[in-house]
Amino acid sequence: MKRPGLLAALAAVAGVGAALDYGAPDPESQAPLAVGGKRRLVSSELLQDAISGEKLFARAKELYEIAKLGEEEYNRPTRVIGSEGHLGTLLYIHSALADLGDYYNLSSQSFPAVVGNVFESRLVIADRLAESAEPMSLTPPTEYREPVSGDVVLVENDGCDLTDYPAHVRGNIALVRRGTCSFGKKSGNAGKSGAVAAVIYNHESGTVHGTLGQPSPDHVATFGLSREEADGVIARLRRGESVDATAFVDAEVKTVETHNLVAQTAAGDPENCVMLGGHSDSVADGPGINDDGSGSLSLVEVAAQLARFDVRNCVRFAWWAAEEEGLLGSDFYVASLSPEENRRIRVFMDFDMLASPNFAYQVYNATNDAHPVGSQELRDLYVRWYEARGLPYTFIPFDGRSDYDGFIRHGIPAGGIATGAEGVKTEEEAALFGGRAGEWYDPCYHQLCDDLSNVNVTAWEINTKLVAHAVAHFAVSFEGFPERSDAVVADDGAGTYGQRVRYHGSRLFV
Ligand code: PHE
Ligand code: ZN
Ligand code: ZN
Repeated sequence: MKRPGLLAALAAVAGVGAALDYGAPDPESQAPLAVGGKRRLVSSELLQDAISGEKLFARAKELYEIAKLGEEEYNRPTRVIGSEGHLGTLLYIHSALADLGDYYNLSSQSFPAVVGNVFESRLVIADRLAESAEPMSLTPPTEYREPVSGDVVLVENDGCDLTDYPAHVRGNIALVRRGTCSFGKKSGNAGKSGAVAAVIYNHESGTVHGTLGQPSPDHVATFGLSREEADGVIARLRRGESVDATAFVDAEVKTVETHNLVAQTAAGDPENCVMLGGHSDSVADGPGINDDGSGSLSLVEVAAQLARFDVRNCVRFAWWAAEEEGLLGSDFYVASLSPEENRRIRVFMDFDMLASPNFAYQVYNATNDAHPVGSQELRDLYVRWYEARGLPYTFIPFDGRSDYDGFIRHGIPAGGIATGAEGVKTEEEAALFGGRAGEWYDPCYHQLCDDLSNVNVTAWEINTKLVAHAVAHFAVSFEGFPERSDAVVADDGAGTYGQRVRYHGSRLFV
């Protein structure tokens, strides 16, 4: 953990500090509930009572102003890593916590994040524009950032083995079926075989929103393609016809230094920590007020309110960076823990998107069979809370789409709640939660319109009270919660916890 990286980065951004006026800390919310000069022990009720939607929304307004710092460079409000909007977000979180005096020990962790930008792309097959073609995240450009042409060559099997690639792939465009191994592996195999581009077609309906993952010099420009569009091409190739294609990708893959922020209570048993996190970054396309302004600000507000109380166990808050680039910050953090530090984390709770406008109350369906022991107890804690309030909830897959992934792969029990991204609300859910069936939970997911009008403050307040409940619960005691196991060896996704994991962040990788 080092701070100079972040502070130097913040200092280097002319105007970030000046553009932000946080105002004086609210004296009422800062006043400790002291008993005889000492803070009283936190309770779920007291901490929940301190949470209000109004305060959360006031923070969202500040965050939107911060996102505007990204406008100069990106022509739109954004808090994407590397932008002034993101640095402003880090500064905002840092100063909100620093205002609480020495209640928390603050640290930042700098790490290099690989970022891809596709400026322009096109795939033309047999003189027709492939409508479903989508460049994969972290794709390299085509050679000289110019169009490349060649025959489409069908790769055998799933293209996971170099022997699947016929010799005449060289200088041509490899067409590979999705499945078995990662898109990155296929792109690398195509590159090693001399292909000038690769197209990975879906084995189910629709296109593939994929990522190549960790860049490799073997990768070639790679597109995802729908099964529907691939079918016709494959039929022609199987009949022995030749099909030509032109691929064009103008893109860059670069490394950006960015920062996780961590705040840990000075009080409480440091051998037994409850940890929780949200992500401080947004996508480049918008300000990310719901994704994940909502989760990040819930954490800031809970951290601020918790500072009025004493805790028995340590509470550790994290704001991850580069979640949108593939969970990079949380992965980096967990991988950097020594086995002793790993075991100090009794449980990790993920809060990504708590205020979706067309929300459902979603609980990650984490179980002790498929995930580190304790994950299920955490799931049930959320369930009991909703049930006690007569609120409906649904289970959603715990399949690697957010920052809990690194934790479960390293043996740390985890879970969390959310309100939904690009999923479609069902009739049954509309009957339970209200809202509009047939529409996305968050119609502005990863878009410019994820702004102040894109949060449901009622859902946000409810969920932040649940965050407060979980924090207070574990801050007081881990009684009845399973001891940590010693299993801290990283799981690469092929093993114990990985079998059901198809995602790493918001994009498919296999
Ligand atoms: N992690 C996703 C994002 O930030 C959001 C998400 C979380 C989607 C959980 C589905 C389930 O874009
Ligand atoms: Zn996102
Ligand atoms: Zn998110």
